[in-house]
Amino acid sequence: MGRDPHYDLTGRVALVTGASSGLGAGFAKALAAAGAKVVLAARRADKLAEQVAAIEAAGGQAIAVSMDVTDETSTKAAYDAAEAAFGTVDTIVANAGVATEKTALGLSVDDVDYLHAANVRGVFLTATEGARRLEAAGSREKEHGRVVIIGSITAEKIFPATSVYGATKAAARHLGKALAREWARRGISVNVIQPGYFESEMTADLFGSEAGAKFVATFPRQRMRPASDLHAPLLLLCSDAARGITGAVITVDDGQTL
Ligand SMILES: NC(=O)c1ccc[n+]([C@@H]2O[C@H](COP(=O)([O-])OP(=O)(O)OC[C@H]3O[C@@H](n4cnc5c(N)ncnc54)[C@H](OP(=O)(O)O)[C@@H]3O)[C@@H](O)[C@H]2O)c1
Repeated sequence: MGRDPHYDLTGRVALVTGASSGLGAGFAKALAAAGAKVVLAARRADKLAEQVAAIEAAGGQAIAVSMDVTDETSTKAAYDAAEAAFGTVDTIVANAGVATEKTALGLSVDDVDYLHAANVRGVFLTATEGARRLEAAGSREKEHGRVVIIGSITAEKIFPATSVYGATKAAARHLGKALAREWARRGISVNVIQPGYFESEMTADLFGSEAGAKFVATFPRQRMRPASDLHAPLLLLCSDAARGITGAVITVDDGQTL
């Protein structure tokens, strides 16, 4: 039996930033299980190697590349390494991001720059470097380019201690829609997934605490869902079935913004 066409990524080459942990590691596994060759990108080589080994053990194809999304030279080198291994990257998941647990009056100017560097400049560099290479590889004719930006529900609703983080995620969402418009006739779709709160390294301290349990009790469904809730929307957006979807923002939050 063949794979479901909505989720079949056989022949695709996907690059996932921030694939060394959390949501990104799960995205890489899901893309590999759907048939894509996957490039796992981040700064921590040891963590990336663990994720690649897990994908290979499950029968998937993956490599790790060192990439600092805030750095243009590092980003270009990561795409070079990806191409050398698997060919042109046609599926780009701009997932790498950082957060702080500080309220606005506790944020330093350095904190503000740190959040913007990964969450806005990083998404910009990851998407534009990939788009240049995709166009050179014929995306206008093949219409095979896919960019998925991982935003956050904090771009929509004000949650505690997310002022600048949420602002960077609103910027990333805006960037996604603008790139979708600019690249509409270049054969590259750009969409945004806005996750709600899920457990990861980023949120481990919060959800390991009593305050975290109280916070979960404020959610409409008073529960945490597994990050695998994000996989079906991601695979759909990356697949041929989504060739008519660009500039969309899909929120996956178990109702947390309601
Ligand atoms: N967990 C949630 O509840 C939640 C909710 C909404 C949105 N999100 C978003 O989902 C994305 C993934 O977050 P997560 O929860 O999975 O957090 P996480 O476990 O802390 O993962 C963040 C990833 O980003 C990478 N990263 C950070 N800075 C980087 C840089 N300069 N260059 C390259 N990679 C970098 C990290 O890898 P290295 O340190 O190895 O480089 C790590 O793999 C983020 O964009 C986050 O804002 C998360």
